[in-house]
Amino acid sequence: MGVVVLFVLTFQIFLGTVIRGDQSGTTHVTIDDNLGTLASTYAPKVWLAKDEDYNPSSVGFHLENVKVYDGATSYSSTPSTLSTCSENCYMSSNQPLEHASATLPFFSGEQVGPSQQPPVYAVVKRINETATDILYWMFYPYNRGKNVCIGLHIFGVCIGGYSTFGNHVGDWEYATMRLVDGQPHQLFVSSHDFGGIYDWDAASQTYKKGEDAIQTEGTHPILYSALGSHGLWSTPGSHVYKDMPAIIDDLRDETSNGTAWDTWRNVTFTMYRPDGGYTGSWAWLNFKGRWGNRKAIKF
Ligand SMILES: *[C@@H]1O[C@H](CO)[C@@H](O)[C@H](O)[C@H]1NC(C)=O
Ligand SMILES: *[C@@H]1O[C@H](CO)[C@@H](O)[C@H](O)[C@H]1NC(C)=O
Ligand SMILES: *[C@@H]1O[C@H](CO)[C@@H](O)[C@H](O)[C@H]1NC(C)=O
Repeated sequence: MGVVVLFVLTFQIFLGTVIRGDQSGTTHVTIDDNLGTLASTYAPKVWLAKDEDYNPSSVGFHLENVKVYDGATSYSSTPSTLSTCSENCYMSSNQPLEHASATLPFFSGEQVGPSQQPPVYAVVKRINETATDILYWMFYPYNRGKNVCIGLHIFGVCIGGYSTFGNHVGDWEYATMRLVDGQPHQLFVSSHDFGGIYDWDAASQTYKKGEDAIQTEGTHPILYSALGSHGLWSTPGSHVYKDMPAIIDDLRDETSNGTAWDTWRNVTFTMYRPDGGYTGSWAWLNFKGRWGNRKAIKF
């Protein structure tokens, strides 16, 4: 008997999970001890688009290729030495960008494959006794904007020229998983200037917002990263995200199943701190400035 109890205890410690029964006979999982496991369990599968030239990277990779500008001073940094700085601080590529559409080699990010891929940064935030949010932050060194006709379309030809909107260095995207009692509850997906809350539907094993559904692969939600700009969507296809005045093209995101970024293969996590004060390899989270060149065209 003693042996059995010991085995059960060891098994639970191994999982890092404490399971306790309550009066109604159901079990609850207290999640303090297994946050790392949960962060991996629910980390998304992100499909990078076909023909994507601008892959994700680690923060460290980006910092090797930029300097931090703080007023009159500039300096190199690493994830653990990046200072809090102010909102006026920014990063700028070590090599200059000659014009708004110029690119540099590091814009292509890091390798994304089955054995090697950039990390996803999970920030775990306790909401209350039962609810926990896991914010999955994904970084890309470069956001490629859109070529939009700013003139008139006449018989399918753009008269008046194209302009590129939204090219910028340093591109953060995120999705938030809300767990209740250690189980999936909702997924919040950000895409450009809007986001959406998707509710977990156990019957279909998907996250649903009306007719829209985010599929899963095992425990992992499947998201699609838009070509160049990396906004996250629930499905492959062509998505209009900003209705432009009639004479101007719509801004569209194109998503497809190009390269699988199985983010659970490289999840690094930390607890959310309301007061900043991240330390060690997470010190970069305190940075208040921009992650890219100052002259970026913001749209
Ligand atoms: C995870 O990311 C880190 C930081 O970039 C990298 O050093 C490591 O090789 C990556 N691990 C895998 C398995 O891809
Ligand atoms: C915890 O927070 C969730 C999400 O806001 C809410 O639905 C739930 O009622 C809260 N539970 C308690 C015990 O406060
Ligand atoms: C990728 O998309 C194609 C259609 O474009 C589809 O036939 C294929 O099954 C998809 N593959 C995966 C792994 O989702």
